[in-house]
Amino acid sequence: MALSCRSGAAMRKYLLLLAQDNCEFRLPEIKSLLTLFGGHFNNIQDAQAKSPFCVLHLPSEEMARKLMKRTVCAKSLFELWAHGKSLEELKESLERHPLESMVNYLQSNSTYKINIHTFNKTLSQKEKLSKIDALEFVPFKGKVNLQNAEHIFYLLEDYGPEPNNTRLEPLQIFFGRWIADGQRDLINSYSVKKRHFIGNTSMDAGLAFLMANHARVKPNDLVFDPFVGTGGLLVPCAHFGAYVCGSEIDYNTAHGLGKASRMNQKWRGPDENIRANLRQYGLEKYYVDVLLSDASKPIWRKGPLFDAIITDRMFPFSLFVSMYYPVTVLFYNFISKTPF
Ligand SMILES: C[S@@+](CC[C@H](N)C(=O)[O-])C[C@H]1O[C@@H](n2cnc3c(N)ncnc32)[C@H](O)[C@@H]1O
Repeated sequence: MALSCRSGAAMRKYLLLLAQDNCEFRLPEIKSLLTLFGGHFNNIQDAQAKSPFCVLHLPSEEMARKLMKRTVCAKSLFELWAHGKSLEELKESLERHPLESMVNYLQSNSTYKINIHTFNKTLSQKEKLSKIDALEFVPFKGKVNLQNAEHIFYLLEDYGPEPNNTRLEPLQIFFGRWIADGQRDLINSYSVKKRHFIGNTSMDAGLAFLMANHARVKPNDLVFDPFVGTGGLLVPCAHFGAYVCGSEIDYNTAHGLGKASRMNQKWRGPDENIRANLRQYGLEKYYVDVLLSDASKPIWRKGPLFDAIITDRMFPFSLFVSMYYPVTVLFYNFISKTPF
């Protein structure tokens, strides 16, 4: 798959290595973020594709780095130097790559290392070493330093969509310079498992960050969640520097009272609320307030109020089937009656 950015500037080719979850939301996330950083994008090919590899055309490394400081869908980004179906093709592709964009990273006074990444195939250490040796056509002049290399290069091999493949040779091979990793760590550090105040429908941290990225939330925005619950969607917005608020119909949820959602706890403890969640992450200053109200009843004045509205109104079917439909209807009422 490939995405390209329309702008007057000369484009460079990058390779994104995407994570293999929430596949249908990955490219929309990348597209939203690139738009946030000043690009206009077209050419989304095969947004449903399961391949973890996506070639991007970007005007600058600066934009590439900004993207990686936000994405939770991409694991890593590389400046793409060569791409082919075989080692021969990879070599030819490298010969066509402009030398001036490589030369700074191949200097004799620099240090480097080469890593191998394979998709749907596990290689032995011996196989990896022989693949690194086969890259002798790359004109490296520097010294290898495995501990602390200045420049890190990757050979990435795609063995196709079948995890149990018997394919001996990869479908496609990429070679490039590592630029940055994405923000996948946030999924663990903000996990609801370790969160102070949770409920039965607290939003999974990975999806919450994904939604904040889709909404292009940025510092100093004001973000509103009409069905705020335990504020799972406000957390990533505050992490990105937005001020956050919400509305909630249920008194106990809004005030963090009643039965706990944790297995080993009967009642919610003191200070279980959205503000405390934000405090847990050092983000309390972004908390505005939660309104105890019915989001289906229009209460807002006409005119722009919020930079983004992020919400999830869906109850898991297994939890309480009959509540799914009414809440969906309320959500549409909210959107249609509220004059933003
Ligand atoms: C799916 S949960 C939201 C979960 C939330 N994203 C979180 O991470 O905790 C939906 C929430 O909307 C609330 N709700 C349902 N109907 C509402 C309404 N008419 N107005 C405001 N809140 C409502 C429910 O009490 C529930 O807390």
